[in-house]
Amino acid sequence: MSTETAKPVFKNGIARWIDDRLPLLSWAQAEFVDYPAPKNLNYWWNFGSLAGIVLVLQILTGLFLTMHYTPHTAMAFDSVEHIMRDVNYGWLLRYAHANGASMFFIVVYIHMFRGLYYGSYKAPRELLWMLGVVILLLMMATAFMGYVLPWGQMSFWGAKVITNLFSAVPIFGETIVTWLWGGFTVDNPTLNRFFALHYLLPFAIFAVVFLHILALHQFGSNNPVGIDITKKDKIPFHPYYTIKDAFGLCVFFLVYAAFVFFAPNVLGHADNYIPANPLVTPPHIVPEWYFLPFYAILRAITFDIFWIIPAKLGGVIAMFGSIAVLFFLPWLDTSRVRSARFRPIYKWLFWVFLLDCVILGYVGASPPEGWLPTIGLLATIYYFAHFLIILPLLGKLERPLPLPDSINKPVLPSSGAASAQPAE
Ligand code: HEM
Repeated sequence: MSTETAKPVFKNGIARWIDDRLPLLSWAQAEFVDYPAPKNLNYWWNFGSLAGIVLVLQILTGLFLTMHYTPHTAMAFDSVEHIMRDVNYGWLLRYAHANGASMFFIVVYIHMFRGLYYGSYKAPRELLWMLGVVILLLMMATAFMGYVLPWGQMSFWGAKVITNLFSAVPIFGETIVTWLWGGFTVDNPTLNRFFALHYLLPFAIFAVVFLHILALHQFGSNNPVGIDITKKDKIPFHPYYTIKDAFGLCVFFLVYAAFVFFAPNVLGHADNYIPANPLVTPPHIVPEWYFLPFYAILRAITFDIFWIIPAKLGGVIAMFGSIAVLFFLPWLDTSRVRSARFRPIYKWLFWVFLLDCVILGYVGASPPEGWLPTIGLLATIYYFAHFLIILPLLGKLERPLPLPDSINKPVLPSSGAASAQPAE
């Protein structure tokens, strides 16, 4: 096998010796140093690498928390308080991990909405997007199980409500729930298995992120103009984007630190500082903020559908459907143009969709009173209509603006100039 010409030559003799036998260094060099990236990427492209860094931080802080945490119903709550009070910098570890979960979701949601705006899910990057949706599902499972571990009131009742949803499955529902619980209610076996899985899943996420990057590098990154680009419009990842990512990371740390040091509990729920009590139901059970839109979709179905599907099952199907629909997005959006910059109608509908998600979040956070259930239902209908009706039709009806031949050409009077910077 002659790879001599393409392979980088390492100055360090040991590196050269290892790389000749195990070409890991030249692989890393090709994928993360020399990787040819479009030269017009804006700051929204920082969020992928940021997500990767937050994932590593979560794994590291989680590892040290585990050294002091006890996954037993009689001791879990106290072991968390022990971490907060007795373990050196335990409070920092815990707040960094709990707020890190929120930061992870903020970063990944921005990363996804960036993809939606610039059409990064379209051919040939469909599989890259779908792997992203798998990551999202794994993240949700991990975060849900992690929230159960402190064994506070919200941990217990959140686990109870969400696991109970599976009882809506016809015939096998109750069996599935008993199997999930490892008993006849949420109890010690449940806490134990959730702990085991909460530890395992981040590594599964890590593996899927690896595939995600592999799929990304197959065709290269999309860009804000959304057109396919030539070699001369690319620059090496290092130093151009390493320095840009480093700057983004610093800004991110400022936001992250602001939460950890000045408002560590603002994103959590006060009830989780009360030890779990199976005999006292909290007046208002709410999941963490990042699940609220999906929770609103779950609660939106309060009526039996076509007299066949009971309301509860309908809600569960809608909730899982709201994520499943993302898998099909690359085929539901029929427009040939990727970037919203050249799609005059989609550009607006993107913001309407974002607003719809925020409304769902608000409804999910509030008790189902007054107009809110109706608003939740309408927002749920819009959510599905966006993917299943609007996007397929819009691709056929909308007249996109003319696409430039190259990302170097100024295109639109307002945004074109920004994409015309010289490479060197
Ligand atoms: C742990 C979570 C994730 C990590 C670490 C991650 C990492 C990355 C990285 C490093 C990139 C290249 C840089 C960039 O384009 O920002 C990328 C690109 C991309 N990611 Fe993710 N990602 C994650 C989750 C997701 C999710 C949940 C989705 C969508 C459902 C997604 C969809 C995409 C798409 C479509 C691209 C290509 C963007 C383009 O080239 O324009 N990712 N990801």
